[in-house]
Amino acid sequence: MDKKLRKAVIAGNWKMNKTPAETTALINEMKPLVKDADCDVVLCVPYVDIAAAVEAAKDSNIKIGAENVHFKASGAYTGEISAEMLVASGVEYVVVGHSERRQYFGETDQTVNLRTLAAVNAGLTAIVCVGETLEQRELGYTETLLKYQTKMALTNVTADQLKNIIVAYEPVWAIGTGVTATADQADEGNGFVRAAIAEVYGEDVANSVTVQYGGSMNAKNADELVAKVNVDGGLIGGASLKAEDFSIIVKAASK
Ligand code: 13P
Repeated sequence: MDKKLRKAVIAGNWKMNKTPAETTALINEMKPLVKDADCDVVLCVPYVDIAAAVEAAKDSNIKIGAENVHFKASGAYTGEISAEMLVASGVEYVVVGHSERRQYFGETDQTVNLRTLAAVNAGLTAIVCVGETLEQRELGYTETLLKYQTKMALTNVTADQLKNIIVAYEPVWAIGTGVTATADQADEGNGFVRAAIAEVYGEDVANSVTVQYGGSMNAKNADELVAKVNVDGGLIGGASLKAEDFSIIVKAASK
């Protein structure tokens, strides 16, 4: 398998952090640090920070993403944001199905699929998150679960649309806990995701899809993680809120 078929993508997921003014300051600090990246650099920010982020990232190699998207085009969905609204705001990427949304906001495999379709149909790149809980891992369900979540999320997504899909393997037990999957566990999990894609779309297509690892990836462990054959970059939470740490991860994925 040739890792060079795929572009590494380092994406920050800021979660519920930063005001618009703080967004401008942090992106201005990051810009010079990541300008020579040999990977794609994305920052997924809260809705209210999108305008500031797009403005601050203008004329740089940083692309802006959102953290969620609704699956309907418009209508009486108080508090929700459509894919078309995101595109019109300068957004190019969107995180879909993050475990925090599955855990706290009733996200299901069905709604993850609908959001994924809405995102790619509008021309966004969807960063689709999958991952097992500690209990599921300990029961031996990791492979089954990751393959199921991946296939469910990609239902009715065409092979052509997969060019605008990134899958992020984020073991729930590694998110925000400081407990990172070992490089081998990350590689194995990403491999299960890729195998699921291959079962539906074939090996060639599966080998062209970017599969990130996420979960306590930081400036210290990024090198080892992104060196793995199935790890095409990362989805970074806490460490994406610090310019220097984030830039070190970007450099690790640029080697
Ligand atoms: P942490 O990097 O803070 O563990 O978060 C990972 C994550 O959830 C990214 O989406």
